[in-house]
Amino acid sequence: MRAALLEAPNTPLVIVDDITISDPGAGEVLIKVAHCGLCHSDYSNVNGQFPAPGPIVLGHEASGVVQEVGLGVKDLKPGDRVVLSPIAACGSCYGCVRGEFGVCVNASAITSSTFVGGATGLSRSGTVVYRGLGVGAFGEYALLDANAVIKVDDDVPLDVACVIGCSVQTGVGAVLNAAKVEAGATVLVMGLGGVGISIVQGARIAGASRVIVSDPNGGRRDLAARFGATDAIDPTNEDVMSRVMGIAAGGVDYAFDAVGAAALIETGMWACRAGGTTVMVGAAPIDHIVQVPATIFMATERKLIGTLLGGCNGKREVPRLLNLWRAGRLDLEGMITARRPLSEVNEGFADMHAGIGLRTVISF
Ligand SMILES: NC(=O)c1ccc[n+]([C@@H]2O[C@H](COP(=O)([O-])OP(=O)(O)OC[C@H]3O[C@@H](n4cnc5c(N)ncnc54)[C@H](O)[C@@H]3O)[C@@H](O)[C@H]2O)c1
Ligand SMILES: [Zn+2]
Ligand SMILES: [Zn+2]
Repeated sequence: MRAALLEAPNTPLVIVDDITISDPGAGEVLIKVAHCGLCHSDYSNVNGQFPAPGPIVLGHEASGVVQEVGLGVKDLKPGDRVVLSPIAACGSCYGCVRGEFGVCVNASAITSSTFVGGATGLSRSGTVVYRGLGVGAFGEYALLDANAVIKVDDDVPLDVACVIGCSVQTGVGAVLNAAKVEAGATVLVMGLGGVGISIVQGARIAGASRVIVSDPNGGRRDLAARFGATDAIDPTNEDVMSRVMGIAAGGVDYAFDAVGAAALIETGMWACRAGGTTVMVGAAPIDHIVQVPATIFMATERKLIGTLLGGCNGKREVPRLLNLWRAGRLDLEGMITARRPLSEVNEGFADMHAGIGLRTVISF
């Protein structure tokens, strides 16, 4: 099949047409990929900030059509229109029964970019090719565990629904599942990419009273207002802490890092009120260390939590998010600001680096 391949960090993706993809094994599904959003986590693999094994087919925010199902797959059939999820939560391991789907031990390993057991289902001239973040959708086909493949109704446009796969599940899930933001709460969101904008949308859905956003990109600050932000900060010439204290005296109830930087996690800790919760959503480079005085956890009951994919089990979240979209409470269309063919995937990443638009979707 044809795919965009990352052979080594800090090299452009190359379009190749000789990737071999396995037939679906037991419990697996072969998908014909239709659309795939560009997420900063892919870009962190490209620029080496978050190392991935290589060569690798990246892309993990996707939708498509079921091509073939493996033995034992009962709830999907060829022709079904689906959204793909990076975490194939099994539903029965200790993490899953506790509702902690991000730590499912039977889901394809996100960091190793393989299925559990080490297979990838992809190869090129006999060499193993890895599948990015459990999906690998910068290719014509993708092979996933059936648990990560969610059928959607005919009214759902696949070119719009793909963004649910990563940024929307992650951002809205961070608010509803990880932080459990309550009505009336005050919220700070640092970073307004697809993930941060989805956190803003989640905060609005949760009924937050103030949604303060911070991003050096003025275009994205303006965009955030359309998605529910009430106050905007330019961190390049305003002090985030004092602006937050001026809006929410004593600090916000919840702060979200949607950039991925230790310094912002620390800002979040201090911008929260005593008892407040800071949520790490961004994927900080692996050498970042968070430094806060240990005593603030005891003396001020501040909390620091992390979330992978917003703690989402796609089988529950994709239908729930689509219902919010149908009800006009979740804007998916407005998040997609560019569409490109696979051959322009590097240009899409250049736009992300330059902060042009919000989400680019690759359409096959
Ligand atoms: N936890 C998860 O499961 C999960 C899932 C998806 C993405 N991520 C991570 O979330 C992060 C955001 O992803 P994205 O696709 O939205 O990225 P993006 O590149 O589209 O957006 C990042 C935004 O952060 C802004 N920013 C940079 N420095 C800032 C600062 N000092 N203060 C405030 N804003 C700043 C940029 O201007 C940009 O608008 C990445 O680290 C990504 O890897 C995590
Ligand atoms: Zn992602
Ligand atoms: Zn599990």
